[in-house]
Amino acid sequence: MARDNTDGTLLRGGSEYKQCLARAQAARQGHIFRWWDQLDAAGREKLLRQTASVDFQLVSDLAARHLGAGPEKFSGTIGLARVIPLPRTEEQFAERRRMAALGADAIARGEVALFIVAGGQGSRLKFDPPKGTFPICPITDKSLFHLFAEKLTATSRRCGVTIPLYIMTSTINNAATVEFFEINEYFGLGRENVMFVVQGMLPTLDASGKLILKRKDELFLSPNGHGGSITALKQGGALADMRRRGIRHISYHQVDNALVNSIDPVFIGYHVAAGAEMSLKVAQKRDAEEGLGVVGNVDGKLTVIEYSDLAPELMHTRRPDGSLLYGAGNIAIHILDVNFVERLNQAGSGLPWHVATKAVPFIDDSGKLVKPDKPNGIKFEMFVFDALPQAQAAVILESEREEEFAPVKNKHGQDSAATAKQALTNCYGRWLKQAGVEVPFDGEGNVDGKIEISPLFALDPEELAAKVSPDLKFTGELLLE
Ligand code: UD1
Repeated sequence: MARDNTDGTLLRGGSEYKQCLARAQAARQGHIFRWWDQLDAAGREKLLRQTASVDFQLVSDLAARHLGAGPEKFSGTIGLARVIPLPRTEEQFAERRRMAALGADAIARGEVALFIVAGGQGSRLKFDPPKGTFPICPITDKSLFHLFAEKLTATSRRCGVTIPLYIMTSTINNAATVEFFEINEYFGLGRENVMFVVQGMLPTLDASGKLILKRKDELFLSPNGHGGSITALKQGGALADMRRRGIRHISYHQVDNALVNSIDPVFIGYHVAAGAEMSLKVAQKRDAEEGLGVVGNVDGKLTVIEYSDLAPELMHTRRPDGSLLYGAGNIAIHILDVNFVERLNQAGSGLPWHVATKAVPFIDDSGKLVKPDKPNGIKFEMFVFDALPQAQAAVILESEREEEFAPVKNKHGQDSAATAKQALTNCYGRWLKQAGVEVPFDGEGNVDGKIEISPLFALDPEELAAKVSPDLKFTGELLLE
């Protein structure tokens, strides 16, 4: 059992304990210390450290506002948002080329940084290490992080500039993520050009608003959502670092998209030309129930309505031609201006909270660990796209999902590693075909075999066409590095 002893550590723990207990009791959360007498020194330290990080006022405000309120489905009126469509006419292609040149100039001036949000828990993938370490490349098994790093290196070389990388982690996966970059020598990006920021955590509550203990010495804390990136960028020193480097635009994406075009000159060009503060890419939803937020106008403001918040009747509404009325799905690729993120921080991020109910293990009254099979824990998250209505100007750009969106969400089935690897192979296959190489596709657009093209070999179909001969033979497996 822990005692106050001569080195002062636990003596300090003693007064800290009293303070923490008093704060917890004042917030009617004193039960979190019910096992205190059974904890050893390390357990006590851990519980005190966690409790000290809890904003009890916020927790009780959230509980008062959201508990027992039931799921809030958006069912109001959604106006259609103005989306820049995929180019079809010669004029539209010419405009995309103009935007690409504008964007490339901004990149070459050193005004663009890459920001990857990777603080989530990846529970659906059932993969314990950080999701970015997941082996995704079809032949070499390079990880998502490695693939993104190669894209960044290739773009940096092409534009003759160093593009810094910022990664948001959480306390759950920060150490493992940093270690992965260390072991891999930062994939050649240079340690000085990679910065990690750790997002905030929030306690998970039970139905009566009590903090859930996952062990006798540990609260069940969860990351505060990717909307936590707004304050994490500021508090982690990333915004200051960006200012020092002259960065103005942050190219943002999630760690789970294997096909993402991390730094897209066309997207940056449109954003810059419109003087936008925040922009996003959309792709047509595969079907009504696909787990993508949809973009629309709500009360005159551009808004993303998360799939879990959208009423089924709206989700399924179709136009006379059969297409989904709200079919512009958020593929979670944004540009955020540094000044905009600063401004959001002045209002403490100002993002609303969303509630998710999940089955989480907990310690019951007798001190036993229970693993429920029904949702029992209430988590609170902020979403970064909720910043959109606050942007003075925004661009929504339609993208070809086959070229830019292959999410790795699930262990099996749709949006799994298998579908993402196939999507990579298919994309490289189409690039080869454009270069005149014969590649067999089946009726569903799938290549029979495996293809992998490192971004360091070719970043896009034009670069590939300049490097490969149409005589190249595809015999079922092709790796170009
Ligand atoms: C997300 C978007 C959805 C979008 C879809 C595209 C949300 C709430 N919704 O859905 O609108 O159409 O992706 O693929 O995000 N993350 C953090 N910290 C957190 C939570 C998440 O960094 O606290 C990161 C994850 O590491 C991941 C990404 O955010 O990179 C997405 O999180 P996830 O919860 O899997 O979102 P989805 O429900 O798939």
